[in-house]
Amino acid sequence: MVKFKTVRGMRDLLPDEARAMRYVEGVARDLAESYGYEEVITPVVESYELLSAKVGEEIRKRMYAFIDLGRRKVALRPEFTASIARLVVATLRNKPKPLRLFCIGSLYRYDEPQLGRYREFWQSNYELIGSKEPEADMEVLALTDELLRRLRIRGYQFKVGHVGILRGILEQEGIKEVEQNYVMQLLDKKDYVKALEFVKSLGVSERCVEALKGAFEARGDRPLDALKPFKALLKGYDAALLALDNLMDVLNLASESGLKLNVFVEAGFARGLEYYTGMIFEPFVPELNVALGGGGRYDRLIELFGGEPTPAVGVAHGIDRIVLAMRKQGILPMVKERLSVAVVPIDEGLKALAFKVASALREAGARVEVEILGRSVSRALQDADRRGLVYAVLIAPDELRSGEVVLRDMRKREQRTVKLEDLTKEVGLA
Ligand code: HAM
Repeated sequence: MVKFKTVRGMRDLLPDEARAMRYVEGVARDLAESYGYEEVITPVVESYELLSAKVGEEIRKRMYAFIDLGRRKVALRPEFTASIARLVVATLRNKPKPLRLFCIGSLYRYDEPQLGRYREFWQSNYELIGSKEPEADMEVLALTDELLRRLRIRGYQFKVGHVGILRGILEQEGIKEVEQNYVMQLLDKKDYVKALEFVKSLGVSERCVEALKGAFEARGDRPLDALKPFKALLKGYDAALLALDNLMDVLNLASESGLKLNVFVEAGFARGLEYYTGMIFEPFVPELNVALGGGGRYDRLIELFGGEPTPAVGVAHGIDRIVLAMRKQGILPMVKERLSVAVVPIDEGLKALAFKVASALREAGARVEVEILGRSVSRALQDADRRGLVYAVLIAPDELRSGEVVLRDMRKREQRTVKLEDLTKEVGLA
């Protein structure tokens, strides 16, 4: 007989992991609610053309793409943003702006499996559609900060940049979009040397090389100090200068509004996705060398998919990586467990009553497991003990005659009889 295993890169999430993932999901959902983002559920399978259009070479070549039985070229979604843009163009085009949309679910990328990198992973994704203003950029930064804060993650920092700076320089040098995209891919992998060599091979001006070198060096945790000297190198690159000012506007607004973001600004920061046009960011914690999320502004995607020109900005949080960070910081499990109770009928004739007692306890909020293996009391208690249940309720004919059951505190190893009608109160639930 073949013993089946999960496919390479795919994981079973066992109860501890599943509970932690659902916990983060719950906090993310609550956050969406408190910022006014409405949930939409989009399909896992979409047209390959849609998903691959602007996702960038790195992800494009790792997509799970296939021909379906109707001969359509489709793929498992590697991210949500393309689906949301499609939805906005096809179905929500007449909805008043801004639109705030939230989605949560699994994504698929044929990445090399390693810590924090899986072939199936989960994101909570927020898209804010219809505003070109810095306050929209700030909102997605703020909600990301709030998510990490609500989860009690410590020491996180936002790496922030603006693709308009680099693209503005390259555009003015007459570099075509495909070549710009290649430069961005190299920078996403921090291959600054190769990026410069490539740009030089295209015959750009000396001034351009200096501006790019300046961009790679303009970095630090004091945005103003890091960017000010660099600004001089951008003289004459008008679009890049506007981008730099826009980045400062977003960061100033954040600090003036009291948001205490720990920012590390990088003028040479690029992300692999090709649809970004403005501010981009990724939160990190010191314990992990991969980003907990990623986001940015994409003002032309909706138009590219046939909609009205519509500015937009969004962010996706990597739920798996957030759980990993929480585990590393020792803040899991933080999920408040329900009070757990075993209900054990001691006599064949008391099985039905055991279910009634269990129902009443569940209604009061307990997690209840009824003995269903017909084991002896001592075996059932041993098992309840091994699995860390808090109470056991023993239903025995003698006590029942006076309307009572035996309540055993599994931790203290003490037991007493209590009135059946007082049981929920006695375990602290009423
Ligand atoms: P992304 O940076 O490709 O952005 O992914 C966002 C986050 O998803 C990453 O920071 C990471 O936490 C998680 N993630 C990505 N790949 C993996 C993987 N193989 N294993 C585990 N976690 C992973 C986007 O997806 C954009 N759609 C974000 C966005 C929304 N931009 C604007 N709106």
